[in-house]
Amino acid sequence: MQTNVIDHIQTHRDGYVDELKTWLAIPSISALPEHAADVRRAAEWAGAQMTRIGLRHVRLIDTPGNPMVYGEWLEAPGAPTVLYYGHYDVQPVDPLDLWQSPPFEATVRDGELFARGASDDKGQIFMHFKALEAHMAQAGRLPVNFKMILEGEEEVGSANLDPFIREHRDLLGADVVVISDTGMFAKGVPSLCYGLRGLAYFQIDVRGTKTDLHSGTFGGAVANPAIVLAQVLAQMKDRSGRIRIPGFYDDVVPLSDAEREQFKRLPFNEKAYRKELGAPRLFGEAGYSTIERASARPTFEINGLLSGFTGEGAKTVLPAVAMAKVSMRLVPDQTPGKVGDLFEACLKKVMPKTVEWTLTRMHGGMPWMASLDNAYVQAAGRAIRTGFGQDPVFMREGGSIPVVATFQKELGVPSVLFGVGLPDDRIHAPNEKLDLGNFHQGVVAAAALYEEIAGVAR
Ligand code: BES
Ligand code: MN
Ligand code: MN
Repeated sequence: MQTNVIDHIQTHRDGYVDELKTWLAIPSISALPEHAADVRRAAEWAGAQMTRIGLRHVRLIDTPGNPMVYGEWLEAPGAPTVLYYGHYDVQPVDPLDLWQSPPFEATVRDGELFARGASDDKGQIFMHFKALEAHMAQAGRLPVNFKMILEGEEEVGSANLDPFIREHRDLLGADVVVISDTGMFAKGVPSLCYGLRGLAYFQIDVRGTKTDLHSGTFGGAVANPAIVLAQVLAQMKDRSGRIRIPGFYDDVVPLSDAEREQFKRLPFNEKAYRKELGAPRLFGEAGYSTIERASARPTFEINGLLSGFTGEGAKTVLPAVAMAKVSMRLVPDQTPGKVGDLFEACLKKVMPKTVEWTLTRMHGGMPWMASLDNAYVQAAGRAIRTGFGQDPVFMREGGSIPVVATFQKELGVPSVLFGVGLPDDRIHAPNEKLDLGNFHQGVVAAAALYEEIAGVAR
């Protein structure tokens, strides 16, 4: 790797965090309509940064939802073309009172930068901004052809992204996709991610009666929708952690012995993990390790439950309705469509006739696995060695980035997941943070990545 690019990064690194703070200050919460203008401002901020770095044709492209930010630099004839994907939207911040410093006033404490979006995903995108900037400043050019697409609806299911990709195949065509929106296995253990789980997300609404009722006058005469929903949901998973939806496991590709051996070699301390989570005991599917349960096996979870009186004090009421948000993480070769059909068929069987109910399919995404012999993955491994001084471990993530499967399917382009988040970054939770050591090493690794990719034969 060119030492002058690394030198440039080392000389300028002290200014990086203050600059990132101005982006993190924009509350681009895609889930809340009242933040629509902030979401757009965050897109404009990214566009201005891309222009300043020297990307060409930088523009916001409107969609029926939040805008895409696009920019490119295509002046490296013969070199591979990288498509960088990231998201500039962030999760809501509630509960606000649990934050030690305000979520949109990024604050450094003990080598960590605390703010919503610090790790997921603005901070990780910004790492690439600085890597590109260093190349441009030192050489006046990038080692590869480069396209960047940033979306503003990732945290709400990316409804407009797949159609956008299908309508802009030529604009987005590339040899490899690079994404920094995942984590490392642990601090000091740089990683390359070769698998992501998919997702199928649902809402179930149950109605027992026209309105809430006095639980003394009517209790005992009609079904309570909260109890019905609790009983139905309780049937979906048994005490050994196995999901009871008929057919649910039919398309699950079993873990190979080789992969299970590899999981065993990862530096994992189960007790420390349990303590960090504050769980009295760990729980999961019998016959699988914690690493396997959390990244390589499918799940069924209740994400939210709502019914009846939940305020202070007591109210004798028989609720008219009950609602649950339910989601399943999927692994190859499950699909959200088929899992949704199986779930619906199962509910039809077990829901009693005493209530009316609906199942709404919210969003979903396909699981993904990369082939590790891909030359770009190998190039990423060398870049990590340059940035972090160690070879990466290979790991699967339990989270979902549905667009990775879309890039493969619609554009035929493989992805390299080059994340530097940590398991304790508290993404989506209060006190989200970014480890600044990882960030600074990540800038060097990202700069090296583009140089390594330039050397890959197309
Ligand atoms: N960056 C995360 C995905 C992620 C989280 C990858 C943890 C690896 C480890 C992304 O922003 C995210 O939150 N994805 C959602 C997807 C959903 C909204 C379709 C998720 O995983 O819940
Ligand atoms: Mn993310
Ligand atoms: Mn996220």
